[in-house]
Amino acid sequence: MGLRYNNRKWKESMRLRLDYNNMLAEFVGKDAGFTKKNIRDNANIIDTAYNLVQLKRGRLMMGWTELPYNQEEVVADIIATAKEVRKSCDYFVVLGIGGSALGPMAVFNALCNLHHNELPKFRRRAPKFYVEDNVDPERMQALLDVIDPAKTVFNVITKSGATSETMAQYLVINNILKEKLGDEANKHIITTTSELKGNLIKISKDEGYKTFYIPEGVGGRFSELSPVGLLPAAVLGIDIKEMLAGAAYMDRICANEKVFKNPALLLAAFQYLSMEKGKNISVMMPYADGLKLIADWYCQLWAESLGKAKDNSGLPVHRGQTPVKALGVTDQHSQIQLYTEGPNDKVTTFIAVDNYRATVPIPNGCESIPDVSFLCGHTMNELIQTERTATEYALSFAGRLNHTIYLPEINPFTIGELLYFFEMETAYAGELLSINAYDQPGVEEGKQATYAILGKNGYDEYRKKLNAFPRKKDENIL
Ligand code: PA5
Repeated sequence: MGLRYNNRKWKESMRLRLDYNNMLAEFVGKDAGFTKKNIRDNANIIDTAYNLVQLKRGRLMMGWTELPYNQEEVVADIIATAKEVRKSCDYFVVLGIGGSALGPMAVFNALCNLHHNELPKFRRRAPKFYVEDNVDPERMQALLDVIDPAKTVFNVITKSGATSETMAQYLVINNILKEKLGDEANKHIITTTSELKGNLIKISKDEGYKTFYIPEGVGGRFSELSPVGLLPAAVLGIDIKEMLAGAAYMDRICANEKVFKNPALLLAAFQYLSMEKGKNISVMMPYADGLKLIADWYCQLWAESLGKAKDNSGLPVHRGQTPVKALGVTDQHSQIQLYTEGPNDKVTTFIAVDNYRATVPIPNGCESIPDVSFLCGHTMNELIQTERTATEYALSFAGRLNHTIYLPEINPFTIGELLYFFEMETAYAGELLSINAYDQPGVEEGKQATYAILGKNGYDEYRKKLNAFPRKKDENIL
């Protein structure tokens, strides 16, 4: 039987669609909305952004564009390793943070049962899965309360091999494993890190850990389609080749030089023009619980990539759009009031799903109460779709920019498409803003302060800087 992602018709039936009607003046009014002419009038900068992305792709920090194509060998290794892990362990735990955690969480949430860990083993057909992306001691203790380290494989993921949070988690877990399992401890750790830099690669070699490499040109938040995300996904039984096929399909669509045929470039252009108009908040609102953590992943991608103090020529610009995550319909009952009536400073991205993986009819009942019985005979599917459409109307009536990304269904192919689409949109937006989307100097400050306070070698100067900062006054603490 042929693989479905090799079938052209099937792929076309799974193509994501961008509906940008509600970014246009004819739908949301002249004050907020744009015209197609606005896009054409900015052809110069849009073409420049397009050309820069095409020029840089596959090079320097744009190595992520090649991940759908250049991982044949590593994918085979990942699938073989995952098979062993699935056979030998009951729990699979990712230790990582930021780009080394959000992707695995998002894909797990999207492509596994929403209550995966609570399912009986024969229905899960994969280990229980946890991603530990914090150093909250209560959370670490809670994890240790529910797993048996002897039946667990820990995947320590850190590109830099130096992130304090991840290394602290590693030290805790390695200690427990060594105490419990002695020489067998190293069979319970798989590392995913840079081949060339950092401490984890040295530790991995010394301890004899199975190790996967994160290519140098792939930064944390662009790494989900590398071994960072592929190993956890494969352990969970997700078809990672199909995910990569979805990313490759979207790559070709987003390489179209005609802006009105290239959804990532067009959306980046709309977001750029929106920022120019002071719309500095980007709300990501999927209407599917399975896509809830895609919004978290997007928030990091959009925030860390675009939130920059300086442009490419070193001039202060303080650009970026604050990403906010919301979940439809849940957050209609908590955030939409603000979005329709508060400051008109947001652009909302809805993610819609054409066909959910379950259909739940709403049965008859409460016949004597028309305000309830109107729901009868419909499905929860119709209800969630209708509420999304209704929210689109509500925002549009109020002159609030919004657009919708449609997924025909949630599967590995469409998730590959979606991840890659947002990565490409971010790359184009970075070029439109003329900033470096691939560094994160603002994160470094906090890291250095932590190192200095905890006494890491080489941070004496930084300690002086901290000591020179005004001491907090008790009178200002109530
Ligand atoms: O996008 C990034 O580069 C960061 O968010 C990193 O993913 C995060 O800081 C974790 O870094 P590392 O993978 O090196 O531990």
